[in-house]
Amino acid sequence: MDRELHVVLGASGGTGGALVRELISRGHRVRAVSRGGGAPEGAEVMKADVSTPEGAGAASAGAVVVYHAAQPAYTKWAEEFLPMTENVIRGAAAAGAKLVFADNLYMYGPQATQPMTEETPQKAGGKKGKTRILMAGRLLDAHRSGRVRVAVGRSSDYYGPGGTGTIAGETVFGAALAGKTVRWPGSLDAPHTFNFLPDMARALVTLGERAEADGEVWHLPAAEPITGRRFLDLVSEVTGRPVRASVTSRTALRAIGLFSPFIRELTETVYQFEGPFVSDASKFERTFGPFEQTPHPEAVARTVTWFRGRRG
Ligand SMILES: NC(=O)c1ccc[n+]([C@@H]2O[C@H](COP(=O)([O-])OP(=O)(O)OC[C@H]3O[C@@H](n4cnc5c(N)ncnc54)[C@H](OP(=O)(O)O)[C@@H]3O)[C@@H](O)[C@H]2O)c1
Repeated sequence: MDRELHVVLGASGGTGGALVRELISRGHRVRAVSRGGGAPEGAEVMKADVSTPEGAGAASAGAVVVYHAAQPAYTKWAEEFLPMTENVIRGAAAAGAKLVFADNLYMYGPQATQPMTEETPQKAGGKKGKTRILMAGRLLDAHRSGRVRVAVGRSSDYYGPGGTGTIAGETVFGAALAGKTVRWPGSLDAPHTFNFLPDMARALVTLGERAEADGEVWHLPAAEPITGRRFLDLVSEVTGRPVRASVTSRTALRAIGLFSPFIRELTETVYQFEGPFVSDASKFERTFGPFEQTPHPEAVARTVTWFRGRRG
């Protein structure tokens, strides 16, 4: 049995939970870190606040690989995400661990040519996109300066078992199963890359295992881009009842955003649903070999099963 320690920061979240399950299925010893202490079964649970130097240091102590999948509240990214990530870098460096960062695609911005690759210029002008540019930059600088080995894995919006806090989470599966109208942002007809959480976790663990991943950015493989309309059709097919959908436009988001700080944040990213938002992950497969993606129909079925189980 491998007794090397793999640490997942943000283990009670969508990405972190999937990472814990993937690592445990490979027989690893896993420390699952969050402030609240929630984690999938089989991990060693540690409550720690990784936004502090002490918390991040304790969380990473003894690790061979640290997966950074912790994130502050969506409304607090600009203030809190970079300092948290700097403490995570410090903690992983002190442990001599490799650091894998679960990144997204916000840094490329609304003008990005589609499909987006790792070479797409990072031109986001909004505060969350700019925060992502700074974080990935700080992580890759830490690698280049020899402080810590870093690999950055980028995915689009995810869905899957355990994935509640995402556009295709509670707002789609939760609402559809409760018979409520699903509110979809932007357009139902724009192709969009969605990453399935278990596949995402598998790809992130590949980055953790493979030395060729070090010092670079990787888009994580996903099934083919899909429109909101087709995605909701799949949900209907699996649940056996039609899903009612309404589109929330940028104008409506702005109006609702006057009263809701969370919705206000979404106006920065609604462009991702108004037109194509597609990730090209061919570099990953060129480097690490073929990656079997779960097809959307199967992935949607597994996600529905999880949401049903959660509703009891
Ligand atoms: N949502 C998406 O569709 C998506 C897509 C691509 C990439 N990503 C990126 O993937 C990363 C993880 O996102 P996610 O959606 O999986 O996260 P999430 O579901 O929101 O979970 C966040 C996790 O971080 C923990 N956390 C927050 N503050 C912490 C702190 N100070 N110390 C320790 N743990 C803390 C939370 O637990 P406690 O609150 O108990 O501490 C929770 O376990 C983020 O960088 C995100 O932007 C997300």
